[in-house]
Amino acid sequence: MDWIEEIRKDFPVLGQKINGKPNTFLDSGASAQKPLCVINKMMDVYTKEYSNVHRGSYLLSEEITSAYEESRRIVQKFINAESEKEIVFTRNATESINLVAATWGRKFLTKMDEVLISEAEHHANLVPWQMLRDEIGFVLKIFKINDDGSFNWDDFQQNLNGNTKLVSVTGMSNVLGTIFPLKEIIAAAHKVGAKVLVDGCQYVVHQKTDVKDLDCDFFAFSGHKTYGPTGIGVLYGKEKILEAMPPYQFGGDMVNVVTYQSTTFDEPPARFEAGTPAIVQAIGLGEALKYMTNIGMDKITSHENELVDYMHQRLQEVEGVTEVGTAPHKGGVFSIDLKGVHPQDLAFILDKEGIAVRVGHHCAAPLVRRMGYESLARASFGLYTNHEDIDRFIAALQKAKTFF
Ligand code: ALA
Repeated sequence: MDWIEEIRKDFPVLGQKINGKPNTFLDSGASAQKPLCVINKMMDVYTKEYSNVHRGSYLLSEEITSAYEESRRIVQKFINAESEKEIVFTRNATESINLVAATWGRKFLTKMDEVLISEAEHHANLVPWQMLRDEIGFVLKIFKINDDGSFNWDDFQQNLNGNTKLVSVTGMSNVLGTIFPLKEIIAAAHKVGAKVLVDGCQYVVHQKTDVKDLDCDFFAFSGHKTYGPTGIGVLYGKEKILEAMPPYQFGGDMVNVVTYQSTTFDEPPARFEAGTPAIVQAIGLGEALKYMTNIGMDKITSHENELVDYMHQRLQEVEGVTEVGTAPHKGGVFSIDLKGVHPQDLAFILDKEGIAVRVGHHCAAPLVRRMGYESLARASFGLYTNHEDIDRFIAALQKAKTFF
């Protein structure tokens, strides 16, 4: 039995029948399934170790505080950050990006500035900048991608100039699967003095992430896509930059001295973690990242690359299918259009076959429209996806065509 079959045993949900058929879960881009080690760890914490963090002078609280902070170090190691102080726990990547917009953005952006994003951004990396633009009056520029979904270096460079203060881009598109050349983007942006935020939600799951090597200023991702729980996300920020940022929210655990008249604030990351955090979720995330590390990110990437080639090749067999996003460097996300079959109808038919995909605009409506569609069906891979999942998906597409 190959290693992937062993891995699949760690995800009990995959062994369930869906509508009487094998569970073919092709929606990991929306949220990934959880391995038993994460589920068990969280159960253990709730059953044996639970209390609040940073507040109690008793054993349980001291122990859980250590576990919570250990998770921060696991995240630090996982993305190769310089210091654990650069790791802020948030609710998800959306909150991480909103945090940067609301704090760094409000403090450092002026109406003379430009913020540059790509056509391939998720709403979470578009709408916060639109809102802030309306408030501050800077120019929000959007550089084009190529028709195959690949990165458009010419248009990026044409839009980058001395007024650009922030480049905020996805590492890997959640619709097209395109992996952006982050190192080159970041180096070019730094040359003109701009900071760079990476929406690493999809990227971090599929690639080894090294924020030091990338040299990005901010990196955001969500726990639930990295086989961890919902309700926990990460904002990485370079220490000096986080230190210069004002707090995001106000309350307990982020203050230094409080009087009735005024308040001073704690250092990062505590400054950005007001209130009781998602303690058990943070610990669950640490467990998930350990799980990925134990398998090996290189192994995960090469398995996925092989499946990407296989899916691409098998899709050619289905007449009437358009793969939307065929960039040479792409990860395991396949948005498709099947001629004559509405994506919603397709999803319904696939569901009857036990196959889960996402349909619609994938929270990137302008991108889907730019590619010429209102709605697409999307199959996305996890580290547990295997060839049989793809074979069942292709067979179901062929079947769907017979209904129309
Ligand atoms: N951003 C997630 C997706 O692409 C939810 O489905």
